[in-house]
Amino acid sequence: MPESSAVRIQDLAAHAGAQVLVQGWLYNRRSSKSIHFLQLRDGTGIVQAIVARADLGDEIFERAGAIGQEASLRVTGEVRLDPRAPGGVELHVSGVEEIGPASGYPLSKQAHGPDFLLSRRHLWLRSRRPSATLRVRDTIIKAIHDHLHREGFVQVDAPVFTPSACEGTTSLFEVDYFGEQKAYLSQSGQLYMEAAAMALGKVYCFGPTFRAERSKTRRHLTEFWMMEPEIAFASLDDVMELIEALVVFIVQRVLETNRCDLETLERDIAALEQITAPFPPMTYDEAAAQLAQRTDFTAGADFGAPDEEALTKDLKQPLLVHRWPKQIKAFYMRRDPEDERYVLGVDLLAPEGFGELVGGGERSIDLEQLEAEIDARGLDREAFEWYLDLRRYGSVPHAGFGLGLERTVAWICGLPHIREAIPFPRTLYRLRP
Ligand code: 4AD
Ligand code: MG
Repeated sequence: MPESSAVRIQDLAAHAGAQVLVQGWLYNRRSSKSIHFLQLRDGTGIVQAIVARADLGDEIFERAGAIGQEASLRVTGEVRLDPRAPGGVELHVSGVEEIGPASGYPLSKQAHGPDFLLSRRHLWLRSRRPSATLRVRDTIIKAIHDHLHREGFVQVDAPVFTPSACEGTTSLFEVDYFGEQKAYLSQSGQLYMEAAAMALGKVYCFGPTFRAERSKTRRHLTEFWMMEPEIAFASLDDVMELIEALVVFIVQRVLETNRCDLETLERDIAALEQITAPFPPMTYDEAAAQLAQRTDFTAGADFGAPDEEALTKDLKQPLLVHRWPKQIKAFYMRRDPEDERYVLGVDLLAPEGFGELVGGGERSIDLEQLEAEIDARGLDREAFEWYLDLRRYGSVPHAGFGLGLERTVAWICGLPHIREAIPFPRTLYRLRP
C-alpha cells in the first residue's frame, strides 16, 4: 500500500472491515507462543495490532516478536471493531515492515526519576503524559488566537532582541550585539504592543520570553511563552473582563477537545468544569489581610508561591487580585487616582494553589511620572525615549496583560511542575536537550 494511503490511528474506526496501512512506532508488546499483541502508536492514538502465527507463518511471526520498543513500523491489516479494545478497534495484521529498528530504548515501562526523564526529553515526548500535555498546549494556543480574533484583535509580533528592561533589570539575559552594544532577550513584548495598540487599536503578541531568574521553583522557566494583548481606550476593568472571558473560553475549549488527554493526565476534570465567570475580584489589601492570618507574610510585599497557594488552594474559581502597592510593580503601571499609593494592576491567580497565570493592568499616561519612575529605577532613559513618544503623540488611556502559556498549561493539565508544560524546558540548571 502506498504511504500516502496510511490511516491515522484516531481515524481507524471509520475504516472497520477494511484493509489499511498504519505507520507508527512500537509502544509495547505482549506475546504468547502463537500471538503477539503489538501496541502501535502514531501520535494520534494507540492501537492494538494482533499478529497471529497461524495467519503469518513462523518467519514473520518470529520477526515481529523481535521488534524493539520504539522501532518504527509500517503495519497492514484489517480493522475490526471491538468495544473492549482501547479506542474501540483492533488491527488484525497481515503484514509488518520494520522501518527504523530500535534496541535498548532507554525509557522502559518502569518509573524513572524526573532528572533521568528530563535528560531524555527528546525521547520522553513519545510517552503518554508528555504527548497528552503537548496536545492540550496546542489547544490552548489555538483557543487564545481564536478568542482574540473573534474579539477583533490583530496579532503583532514583538522583537526578541531588545535595548531595555520591561520587568526589572535583575532578570535580564544580556547578549553581545556585534561587540558594539548590549542587547537583552525580551522579558515582555508589552512596550511594543503599546506602540502597536496606538496604531491598530486592539493587538496582541504571542512569543518566547526570557527571564534570567535564579529561581528553582515549580513555576519558573528561563524561557517561556507569553501572550500579551494591549487595548487602546481601555481601563483596568476592561482587561479584567477580557482575562475572565479568555480563561473561561480556554478551559471550555480544552474540555471539548482534550477529554482523553485530561484522563491520561489524571486531571480532576470536574474541577475544570466548574470554571465559570464571574471570577471573584479582590483588592491586594483584602488578599494581604487574609494572608496576614495564614503565613509569615509582610504587609506591602509581593506574593510568593506559598502566599498564592494559601490564597487559592481552596478556591474553585480563579482569583483576580487588583490595585497593588506601587513599589512592588513595574514602572509603567498607572497610579490609582483614588489612592496614589496603589497602581491599577491586576494578577489572575489560578485555583487549587497553582498561582499566578496573568499579570497586567492599566498603563501610566503621565509623561513626567513615567520619566521619574524610569529614573528612580535606574533604567536607561535613552533606551525608553521611543516609548515615551507614545505619551507625547496622541496618548490615550490603555491597558493590557500577559498570560503565561506554561503556567496555564500546568494548571489545566494539573502538572506538578511547569517544566512539563513546555516541549524542551529551559531552567536554571537545564539547557539540554
Ligand atoms: O507578571 P509578568 O511579569 O507581566 C509582564 O511581563 C507584563 N509586561 C505583561 C503585560 O502586561 N503585557 O508576566 C506575565 C505572566 C505571569 O503572570 C506568568 O504567568 C508568566 O508571565 N511568567 C512566567 N512563566 C514562567 N516562568 C517565568 N519565569 C515567568 N515569569 C512570568
Ligand atoms: Mg507578575
